[in-house]
Amino acid sequence: MQIRNNILPVLRPLGDEHDINELRKTILSGWWGRGPKVEELEKKFAKKIGTKYAVAVTSNTAGIDLVLKAYDIKRGNVLSPTISFVTTAMVPLWNNCKSILCDVDLKTNNLDPLSVKQNVNKNTKAVIAVNYAGIPCDIDKIREHYDGLIIEDCALSYYTDGAGLKGDIAVWSFQAVKTISCGDGGLITTNSKKIYDRLKLLTNFGIPADTYQRSVDKKSKQKLQPGYVWDFNISSIGYKTYMNDIQATLLLSQMNKIDKSINTRLEIQRMYNKYLPKEISRPIWSNTCQFYSTKIENGSRNELMKYLSSKKVHSTIHFKPIHLHSLFKQNKKFKIADTEWKKYISLPCHAAMNEEDIDYVIYWCKEFYK
Ligand SMILES: Cc1ncc(COP(=O)(O)O)c(C=O)c1O
Repeated sequence: MQIRNNILPVLRPLGDEHDINELRKTILSGWWGRGPKVEELEKKFAKKIGTKYAVAVTSNTAGIDLVLKAYDIKRGNVLSPTISFVTTAMVPLWNNCKSILCDVDLKTNNLDPLSVKQNVNKNTKAVIAVNYAGIPCDIDKIREHYDGLIIEDCALSYYTDGAGLKGDIAVWSFQAVKTISCGDGGLITTNSKKIYDRLKLLTNFGIPADTYQRSVDKKSKQKLQPGYVWDFNISSIGYKTYMNDIQATLLLSQMNKIDKSINTRLEIQRMYNKYLPKEISRPIWSNTCQFYSTKIENGSRNELMKYLSSKKVHSTIHFKPIHLHSLFKQNKKFKIADTEWKKYISLPCHAAMNEEDIDYVIYWCKEFYK
């Protein structure tokens, strides 16, 4: 097979004319800040997930930070899996907490409930449970060992049925290479009115209503009437972490394309599972397949990655264990993560791939192991 001209990325977003047209309308509307599009997104998103409330923020990272603040977690231990993006371990440090990393399950790469049991103590203030590659974390099992706050990190699980409903609160990501994206953005979903109200204040400098809400003319109920209220009282500290209408417009448009994004990923997963050479393991089936992460058991992972790169195919690793970063060094062994991560490989998997791209990856993987 001839080597392709352009690189096949491991992940990438997919935009179209509809996205551009929707953005055009918002750009010409004159309202770019947090406004009607964010309100529409929050309502639509809460409905889709099945929660009472959703709060749109600048990223999942900002969202997890806000959740810790909304629950008033200022010290103590926060548990999270060592196989994750660094956010889940980093954000507790911003809040003067200790990040206690836990081992993961051999098959799912999700937080191992037994590791939670071993690491929970009276100082534990929260557990952050990641749905790795869209595969739901076993939160019911975690609850057998820990009855405190569980934050479900759904950065990789939009949209796996039921994701975001087992934890006490869930945080989503729409960063550039997620199943759908608005460049950067996140949403927090919750059923608690109290936490929702806290989050609203926290995202907007502690101001009780945002500029758009204060622009409502109370009599005519129309926005942008002379009723704009410039005065407000700030009684608690807040941050600037709200999403704006440009991001919300793109995300609303992208939400219409989630089925296409997932269906393409599922087809890639099916094809890889069926045709990749036997040296490449078959991962647990993911209903989202945010990325196709699998394992090479025979020690050839690095050579395969190099070989694919020479054929213009990008691959990556999800994730190098967080405890291997010097900042997060822990004085304990991670039986599964320490051995398994050396086998991880993520192959190209995104909505912009076509059949030819899938065949191309399979062909070169087969050639390598011939
Ligand atoms: C498991 C996990 N949590 C959190 C994040 C952070 O998301 P964001 O970039 O929206 O802050 C990521 C990003 O990839 C992730 O993979």
